[in-house]
Amino acid sequence: MKKVFAAVLVMIFVFAAIASATVIKLPDPAFDGTMSLERALYLRRSIRDYTDQPLTLQQLAQLLWATYGISEPEQKLRTAPSGRRAYPLEVFVMVSENGVVGLEAGVYQYDAIEHSLKQILKGDVRAQLARTGSAAIGVAPISVIIAADMEKAAQVLGNPDVAPKYVYLEVGHAAQNLYLQATALGLGCVVTAGFRAEQAQAVLKIPEKYTLIYITPVGYPKQ
Ligand SMILES: Cc1cc2nc3c(=O)[nH]c(=O)nc-3n(C[C@H](O)[C@H](O)[C@H](O)COP(=O)(O)O)c2cc1C
Repeated sequence: MKKVFAAVLVMIFVFAAIASATVIKLPDPAFDGTMSLERALYLRRSIRDYTDQPLTLQQLAQLLWATYGISEPEQKLRTAPSGRRAYPLEVFVMVSENGVVGLEAGVYQYDAIEHSLKQILKGDVRAQLARTGSAAIGVAPISVIIAADMEKAAQVLGNPDVAPKYVYLEVGHAAQNLYLQATALGLGCVVTAGFRAEQAQAVLKIPEKYTLIYITPVGYPKQ
């Protein structure tokens, strides 16, 4: 009886914690910018050193929307193509202390449909995350993490053998969106696949059902 009571209490705490998770509505993205696509393609470079100038919430919102946001709300189509419209990717962002004006340091999950952020971890884990991979992570105000739900992909595609191929192709589309949007905003980034996934996932507290694929530090390029 005592065990049942304890289990019920734990469940109540878990549900309360989930319900109270901080949700931040993001500013609407702009659908027009000042740089042409051709210029962004021409200027795009992998940038690994950044100034400590923070990003604005508007810039963060624009970067996340460009990466994997909703561009056709009725059918919930996105800025990146998706095999069989599976949309198996999840986008997270690690924000360092003073990394984004008005946003506390932590790890957030991007909800594309609501265009909002849900905080999954409080505190600055930038240095810890950098130790699991590229030094660029350690100097960027934010890192965008693209992860995938492989099971969801396998379910929608109906074939677990092809799911990883579809997922990795889709990540490439989303990551290029991020590169080009960062460039168009005068920011720089670098996709990194060279990190210790298990340690990075533990630092970021990203649930195990997601496979981390890219960690992309973003910031103002240091000239
Ligand atoms: C699949 C993939 C993995 C990459 N992983 C890393 C990485 O772990 N660390 C890094 O600094 N750059 C990484 N890069 C960036 C490449 O080094 C970079 O694209 C290349 O040097 C060409 O430079 P550019 O992007 O400026 O054209 C990766 C790129 C790709 C496509």
